[in-house]
Amino acid sequence: MSDSKAKLTIDGKELDYSILNGSVGPRVIDIRKLYATTGLFTYDPGFTSTASCDSALTYIDGDAGVLLHRGYPISQLAEQSTFMEVAYLLLRGELPTREEFTKFENTITRHTMVHEQLTAFLRGFRRDAHPMSVMCGVVGALSAFYHDSTDITDPYQRMVASHRLVAKMPTLAAMAYKYSLGQPFVYPRNDLSYTANFLRMCFSVPAEDYVVDPVLERAMDKIFILHADHEQNASTSTVRLAGSSGANPFACIAAGIACLWGPAHGGANEAALNMPPERIPAYIARAKNKDDPFRLMGFGHRVYKNYDPRAKVMQATAKEVLEVMGVDDPIFDVARELEQIALHDDYFVEKKLYPNVDFYSGIILSAMGFPTDMFTVLFALARTVGWVAQWNEMISDPEQKIGRPRQLYTGPTQRDYVPIGQR
Ligand code: SDX
Repeated sequence: MSDSKAKLTIDGKELDYSILNGSVGPRVIDIRKLYATTGLFTYDPGFTSTASCDSALTYIDGDAGVLLHRGYPISQLAEQSTFMEVAYLLLRGELPTREEFTKFENTITRHTMVHEQLTAFLRGFRRDAHPMSVMCGVVGALSAFYHDSTDITDPYQRMVASHRLVAKMPTLAAMAYKYSLGQPFVYPRNDLSYTANFLRMCFSVPAEDYVVDPVLERAMDKIFILHADHEQNASTSTVRLAGSSGANPFACIAAGIACLWGPAHGGANEAALNMPPERIPAYIARAKNKDDPFRLMGFGHRVYKNYDPRAKVMQATAKEVLEVMGVDDPIFDVARELEQIALHDDYFVEKKLYPNVDFYSGIILSAMGFPTDMFTVLFALARTVGWVAQWNEMISDPEQKIGRPRQLYTGPTQRDYVPIGQR
């Protein structure tokens, strides 16, 4: 993996470090021996220039707007595949044969029910609890219900835990939604697809039959595909770091959910739609003010500096759903106005702040009838397969060790304790 060197001169001493090649994308300087050979650390808060691992799952080219899952472009997967098939691809590395897919889909389907005692756990929350707080609690609690799949050294138990997490997230997300409405929980059905099952668990009521609209099912499935995995983003890095200590997979995914909740990350889709229309000019002015830490939610990205390829697919899906739903909510005029401003305003164009995946997803989810506080829950639902695939990749890496970054210390140097009477 290495065919050239990086030279570093420190205090007059010249040192060589290998440059490692991946299959595509930026090469890396292997600095694993830097501290041992120089007594120096690298310094990279926010990890803007740091590769934390090697991975074969997802490749992003931020300048070219490329996103590949196991080599397949996101636009092709969104248009031609299904979330269940993409889940298989991420977990197993290859697209399944028809027989492999049927077996995988049956396995996931038969893990969609949750332990009945979890309903008691969920009922401990206030009805007005934010659904993401419920998800953080309930997913972490799964390790209390599924002891038989928490031994991370056992590949079989890792596989069972992976299937359980992918399968149960829709059920738990729907339960959190129903609980917030004061409506009864709806059990999953084995005769429905993964996504149709989720929509029925969210929107059906015992008082009448519910038939999933195929256009909404397809739109929801595309949204799940677009959110499935995204390289070493903040929540995925959280899952990997938690997993590096040997924590059980349910605890690791709960950590990922907690990190995703932040408005700079997965919480942006909720924040984007919560901007009141009349305040758009003020928001734009604040976003452009260097002295104001305010960020315009749904715009910008650490990696994509031209456009987010997922946003393009999402934009097209938004138009489809709005037409089907016959929605004419002023919130969508807000979104369109924001999009036009951002795409033509010098500040946004110069800083390459284009609408990201979170900008459009909120528009679609709102049109489908989800409240804004469910948006990040749906992001977490879809991202669970990416987190689980990344966790499995890390755990099965023979070179894996606990993640333990160092620091640049800027506090007081050693000083002696002074008794309180002498201060
Ligand atoms: C996701 O990492 C992933 O892959 C994440 C994700 C995934 O699938 O996992 O893609 C999902 O989290 C998408 C991003 C959702 N977040 C938002 O929409 C929140 C708003 N966006 C910003 O917070 C910001 O753009 C980030 C956090 C997304 C990226 O931040 P960076 O890369 O650290 O960029 P930055 O904050 O250093 O900004 C660079 C410049 C700054 O100006 P200068 O200090 O250089 O003068 O751009 C400006 C920022 O002020 N800027 C913005 C802005 N985003 C960046 N200014 C106004 N509004 C914004 N949204």
